[in-house]
Amino acid sequence: MTIAVLGATGMVGSRVITEARARGHRALALSRKPASGDPGVTPLAVDARDPHAVHTALTGSAPHGAADAVVLTVRTTPADRDFLVGATRTVLDAAARLGIRVLVVGGAGALRSPGDGGLLVADDPSYVPAEVRPVALAGVAQLDTCRGHAHTDWVFLCPPALLEPGERTGRYRRGTDTLLTAADGRSWISVEDLAVAVLDELEHPRGERVMTVVHEAARPCA
Ligand SMILES: NC(=O)c1ccc[n+]([C@@H]2O[C@H](COP(=O)([O-])OP(=O)(O)OC[C@H]3O[C@@H](n4cnc5c(N)ncnc54)[C@H](OP(=O)(O)O)[C@@H]3O)[C@@H](O)[C@H]2O)c1
Repeated sequence: MTIAVLGATGMVGSRVITEARARGHRALALSRKPASGDPGVTPLAVDARDPHAVHTALTGSAPHGAADAVVLTVRTTPADRDFLVGATRTVLDAAARLGIRVLVVGGAGALRSPGDGGLLVADDPSYVPAEVRPVALAGVAQLDTCRGHAHTDWVFLCPPALLEPGERTGRYRRGTDTLLTAADGRSWISVEDLAVAVLDELEHPRGERVMTVVHEAARPCA
């Protein structure tokens, strides 16, 4: 596949490109200031606020051609809800015109709280303190944008509560719309293993709209 990653220079986007390349896929690395020395990665300077630029980048050019799928991994600091919603709509619009799949890496806030399925994590102060609630709510708005869009070929991947650079183990547990907790009691995964889950889903789509993942420990040797 040729996989476009919008947010290619970020914590998540860079690992998705590494995982994609390790599996032999080509990558289109989209961000405002992309760079790559890998001939299998085409860096394309794109501002997610520019719908024409996003569409043109996904349409592709020699040698890698058009994207077969696009992974959206943008974010701003501080969180900008309008930017996130606008970028998501722009990618969905372009993907609809090109007939390609979208995988959005969103936030844990859009998941259901494990203690109370009627409560979103974004609204649960035991997971989301008041000072980070705007970030969580921006992610909820991003998922709402996907749900309200005419393009139906998308999947929204919510990380667990903690997502940090770490080890690529290749092991993770997958769920749908409720926050998962690992065997050690923490809701976490390494970004490297999240990227494994992204590529697994792109290669073998399960047809779920919302998915989440969590670290899975190695089984002890017998
Ligand atoms: N536990 C959780 O729920 C959790 C934890 C971490 C991350 N996340 C989510 O994972 C996703 C990725 O986060 P991250 O940590 O990888 O973010 P990050 O490291 O801050 O990277 C953000 C990316 O967005 C790009 N970007 C920002 N503004 C842009 C624009 N106008 N046009 C094009 N590209 C732009 C940046 O590239 P340039 O600056 O070069 O343009 C960069 O590649 C986000 O949705 C975030 O909310 C969730």
